[in-house]
Amino acid sequence: MTARGPRVLVTAASKHGSTHEIASAVARSLTDSAAGRSVGLFASAMPAENRPDPSGFDAVVLGSAVYAGSWLTAAKDLVTAHTAALRARPLWLLSSGPIGAPPFPPDEPYDAGTFAQMLGARGHRVFPGRLDKTRLSFGERAMVTAMRAPVGDFRDWAAVAAWAEAVAAELAAIRSGAPVASADRFPG
Ligand SMILES: Cc1cc2nc3c(=O)[nH]c(=O)nc-3n(C[C@H](O)[C@H](O)[C@H](O)COP(=O)(O)O)c2cc1C
Repeated sequence: MTARGPRVLVTAASKHGSTHEIASAVARSLTDSAAGRSVGLFASAMPAENRPDPSGFDAVVLGSAVYAGSWLTAAKDLVTAHTAALRARPLWLLSSGPIGAPPFPPDEPYDAGTFAQMLGARGHRVFPGRLDKTRLSFGERAMVTAMRAPVGDFRDWAAVAAWAEAVAAELAAIRSGAPVASADRFPG
């Protein structure tokens, strides 16, 4: 990183908008956090569908909504297209999907763990999502009705902000060269 503050790309794939809104909230909290302000951090949120290039940034938060246990294609394509750049930067992953209380499904998306290992991510956090029937396609509506999935907006903005603040603190520590302990770092 150079003398200016770290530039952070926050990019996520979304089908119905709710994960884009989580990415925007993460970017805002990163920039506005005490740790972020102390190092002049600036975070930009961009849809993964716009294929942002991570190599213009010092660190990356990459995420996706989860459908049928998997990340969306736009996020997976970013991983494939920019594996080396993502591996070379501090990277955090986020997934958004589980609905209801307690969150369902409880399982992690099956590909995010693989991506985290492959890219050397510093963490992967799963956040609750939003299921708004008015935004779904006919097929999706039929599926969630058949599964009796709970409908509503279960996004936890306080948890999103707290996670972003922890990421900003970790980035500030990396910048200062201090030893870094991450709450949701992957083993190995
Ligand atoms: C057809 C369908 C399948 C889904 N499958 C999963 C799933 O396997 N795991 C999960 O955690 N959430 C699942 N969800 C919930 C979505 O991930 C959740 O609604 C999310 O917030 C949508 O994000 P988006 O608005 O950014 O597209 C599913 C939703 C739909 C409509």
